[in-house]
Parts: sequence; structure tokens; C-alpha cells
Amino acid sequence: MHYGTLFLTMCGIVGYTGKQQAKPILLEGLKRLEYRGYDSAGLALSSPSPTIQNFVIQRNAGPVQGLIDASTKIGLSETTGIAHTRWATHGVPNETNAHPHRAGNIVLVHNGIIENYAQIKEKLQHIGVQFSSQTDTEVFAQLIEFHRVQILKSDTTLNEEDAVLRALKKAMSEVDGHYAILFMALTIPGKLFGVQNGAPLVASKLKDGCLIASDIQAIIPYHNEVCFLPKGEILIVDENHFETRNLKTDKVSVPKIERMDWTADKVEKNGFETFMLKEIFQQPLVVADTLSGRLPSDESGAFIWDHFKAHEVLWKNAKRLYLVACGTSYHAAMTAKYFFEKWARIDCQVDIASEFRYRHPVFETGTVVGVISQSGETADTLAALALANQAGVSTFSICNVPSSTISRESGFHYPTMAGPEIGVASTKAFTAQLTILCALALDVGRLRGNDDLASFQALARLPHDIDRILKQSETFIQIGAKLKDQKIILFVGRGTMYPIALEGALKMKELTYIPSEGFAAGELKHGPIAYIDPNVTIVTLAPRDECYAKTISNLEEIRARGGHIVAIGTEGDEEIKKISHEFIGLPASAWGTMPILSVIPLQLLAYGCAKALGRNIDKPRNLAKSVTVE
Ligand code: AGP
Repeated sequence: MHYGTLFLTMCGIVGYTGKQQAKPILLEGLKRLEYRGYDSAGLALSSPSPTIQNFVIQRNAGPVQGLIDASTKIGLSETTGIAHTRWATHGVPNETNAHPHRAGNIVLVHNGIIENYAQIKEKLQHIGVQFSSQTDTEVFAQLIEFHRVQILKSDTTLNEEDAVLRALKKAMSEVDGHYAILFMALTIPGKLFGVQNGAPLVASKLKDGCLIASDIQAIIPYHNEVCFLPKGEILIVDENHFETRNLKTDKVSVPKIERMDWTADKVEKNGFETFMLKEIFQQPLVVADTLSGRLPSDESGAFIWDHFKAHEVLWKNAKRLYLVACGTSYHAAMTAKYFFEKWARIDCQVDIASEFRYRHPVFETGTVVGVISQSGETADTLAALALANQAGVSTFSICNVPSSTISRESGFHYPTMAGPEIGVASTKAFTAQLTILCALALDVGRLRGNDDLASFQALARLPHDIDRILKQSETFIQIGAKLKDQKIILFVGRGTMYPIALEGALKMKELTYIPSEGFAAGELKHGPIAYIDPNVTIVTLAPRDECYAKTISNLEEIRARGGHIVAIGTEGDEEIKKISHEFIGLPASAWGTMPILSVIPLQLLAYGCAKALGRNIDKPRNLAKSVTVE
């Protein structure tokens, strides 16, 4: 079974060149990108001077603080540098794979993905190029360096900068992908070069130099006039120059400057109007970060967990699984039930934590209790965990706060890497929970001889698929706004879409205060259909899956009674479009990943409706982010 892995790097890039010491500016910039978590970080520094030109590189696995501690003795005089935080869903995160990557005179950092890196790597290795890492980034650096050397060999009259620019253009013509790169050429001290092909690069001319980053919040503390580098232009900067050059015509231009009206508060929200919206848009990165270093990188298909051996023993002996949680985390548990029973063939029961103890659950040999919690401090969930611990059964937690009580008091901890979730209505933590549960159930299934390659491959594609859905966010918000006068809003789904329907209803009710109810689509005719009339909106989750035909007939039942239908289906589904009033099309995905994609529009529908009602979106009335009372 060849798993093959989609190489995906979701990263933060910072660069500086000018009169000031570069290191503190670079490290401060990386810290401003750390809200997203990371698995490695690095920086490279150089300093042009008539007598010496020193160059130093420092890379660390782990958080930015590790890099700060490791670089106290370097970079005391260098004034040019590039720095990077890495989130890779490919291979073990370590120093070797950390950026910057050096290839001869080229030192480079990268954000995004080089789709055809393996073919290019093979070609370069064939002509003797040696590689030290598994990354696509090093392939890009080696390709530029290879062309730079060849170009200088064929025309010795060329100056270094022209050779580097020609080499860059040649390399860009050969790579396929969605990326931004920032690099320095050691033979051209004091200069930085940047290009982007779909991933952002932002630059600002400071009074004593130039700052470049992949995200604006690393720049705003220094200046609010920025240039968003357009595709097709090369950014070339040094202490005295701030220009772009057109890749095709070589025409040099002064970059178009935009003034950002950001405040410190907005910087904290990365320019979004609320934390919730910021967190919705962080989901591609959060999913990538949660998968970071977990996806199989060899033929075995084994996922990479902490305490790997104990994990295998636990799951090889598991006979019954209880998943216990509250609220949104309970909906993650309900979704995971489908995963564990289909892939791992383990009997999986799901409980609301506050009810768990009252049903006197049976604990036998081989029972495993899993608790799911964003905060890791929810009293009801803690009580359920305590009950399981007292019974002496194996326990694990899926939690977003590693230092939390639930993480510490469970036998195993599978962390979600969503970073701090400020909005009371949980979004990115939920998709992170579903991601880790999908990966875990897939891996347990593999351990038990059930492989689902399609779902595994779709899992690795998730960050890109979520990114694509978010590009329609304005449409979803507008559809949500139109629901603001509804007296009740219903959400229906079948199979794995049923818990997602419940989650959609919870988002809507907690943000808008409009009565909202989710239920299994098959239950419609057993009572809830009495709700349906032309003033009622029904949000129906209808992907092209095994339940599709029955969901279509549910839609017909609703249509026949005049209900207003908002359908969320697979993009291009003309049949659903015909019978719904609003249609939201999602990228086709695998059975296991469709729930994760399907919740994104539901988050934005609730957001749009709450915004139209003027609700306090980050802090809805009566709610708390962590319910530490039973
Ligand atoms: C979700 O939007 C709500 N804020 C709430 O239902 C939450 O999911 C529940 O309180 C559980 O919290 P936890 O995940 O931190 O345990």
C-alpha cells in the first residue's frame, strides 16, 4: 500500500535587510506568527562589509523560543537575514527539515507546496546534486543554485545579480506549485529576493531598511504602509533599494504601497473583525498543524504518534470504546463513532459527559474511554474521566491545551494543535478534533487490517480543500444574513452528516439566539416535519455519499411542504441545485473527511446571521469559553 504523502508546508516567513541588527527583528517577527503553532524554526544572517562577509544559520525543531535560546550568541552584527517557522505534514519535524535551506550560494525559506518536487529532485540527484533534507524547499534552492552555476559557466561576463535572477526565472518555469519564497545569495550581500506564486508575501520600506513577511501582522508593529507582492514580479531589496522587477519584461517598478488602518487590537485579530472569523480562517493551517509530523511517511502507512508502542498495544487490545464530551466536542465524538466502527470495527458508544455517570456504564477488560475537550477543563468531562480512571480502564484525551487537567489526567493524550481559541463558539478546535480523530481511527483501522487509502489521501489534502471553501466565505455569510428573521432554523443530515447537522444547529443557536434544531434526516417524517412551512429554513447536508439518494427524497418532502432549503452538497451537483433555494458546493472528498469540510459553511452561515443581528459574536450572552462547573 503506497501511501505517498502530499507535501504540504504551511509556514511563516520573515526577512529584513537594512542598517539595524537583523536578528531581533526576525525573532520578533517569528513570535508574531507563532499564534499558529509550529514544529520547527530557523534563521540565516549575513552582513556585507568591505573586509568580511559573515554568514550564519541556526535551525531548531520545536517552538520559536527554542530558536531564541539557541541563537543568543550569534547574529550580533549581521544586518541582513531571513527567518521561518514550519508546519509540515510530511516527515518528522526536525532540524534537518527546518528552514532556511542552503544550496551553495542560495539560502532560502519557503511557504506553500512544490507539487513536482520529487521529479525535480530525482533529476538533480541524477546529475550529482546531494540533498540533506526531505523537503521540497531544498529542491527549490538546489534548482536555483544549479541554474545559477550553469548560467555563469556559459557566460562569464554576467554579473552575479543577473545570473541569480535568470536562474530564479528558469527554476520558476520548472516548478509547479502554490508558494512564496524569500532568499539571499551569499555572493550578493545585503540583498533579499522574493517571489510568490499564490502564497502571500508582504513588504514594507522602513526608514532604515526593508521588512518582508508572509503575514502582515509581523510588519504592522514597524510600519502600516505595505506592498503586497503581486504574482509575476520579483521583489529585490537592500538597504537603499525597494523595487520589483517583472519576471517577463524585466521592467523595474516601485512597488504599489497600501496604507493599512490596523490597530494593535486588529493585529491581534490579524485584521479580522472578530476572533471567531480569524479562527475560522485559521482552519487550513490548524488542520495542517494538527497533522504535522503525524502522517505516514513510509510504505507501512503507520501514523506517527507520541508513545508509539503503547499506542499500538492499547488499540490492539481495545474491545469497546466510549467517547465522552460536551457541546461541540460531543459532536466530534458522535462523528468519530462512525470512523471507529467503520475502520477499526470497534464497538463505539458516545455519551454526553454530564449524563455518562448516570447510566452506570459497564467497564470491562478492553474498555477504552476517550474524552474530547477544547479547553481540557470542562467539569462534566473531567468527572467522566475520573469515573473511568477510578474503574481502572485505559483512557485517552483529545485536547487543545496540553497542560490542562484533562490532558494530564488521561492515560494518553492526542493533542489538537489549534492554538488558542478565543471565540466562545468553537470552530478551529472542532475541525482539529475531527482531524485527529479521523487520523486516529484510520490508523487503528490500519492496525486491524482495514486500510482506507482514499480517506488517508483526502486527509493530507484537507488544508487545501478547506482553503478552497473559505474562498466562498462571503457567499456563505450573505446566505446566513438572510436568515436573521427566521423564527426557527433546522439542520438535517444522515450518517456522518448527522452530528455535523447538530453542530450547525449549535453554532446557529449560540451565536444568533434563534431557536435552531438539528436532527437525523431520516427522523424528519417521524415528527419534525410538522415544523415545515414557507417560513422555516432547513439547512440540509447532502454530499454525494451512500446516503445521497435518501437525502434527495428528504429534500423533496421538505420542498413539497414549502420549506426554504439551503443545501450543502458536492460542487457541480445540478440535481440538488434544482430542488434547493440556496446551494453551497464543496470539493468532492472522501467519506472520512467530508464532515470536516461540511462544517465550514455552517460556521459561516451562523456567523453571517449573528453579524446581521448585531450579536456579540466572540462573547455570546450567557456562555463561557470553558464551563468549569457541573
Ligand atoms: C461550542 O461552540 C461551545 N462553546 C460549547 O458547546 C463547548 O463545545 C463545550 O462547552 C465543551 O467545551 P470543551 O470542548 O472545552 O470541553
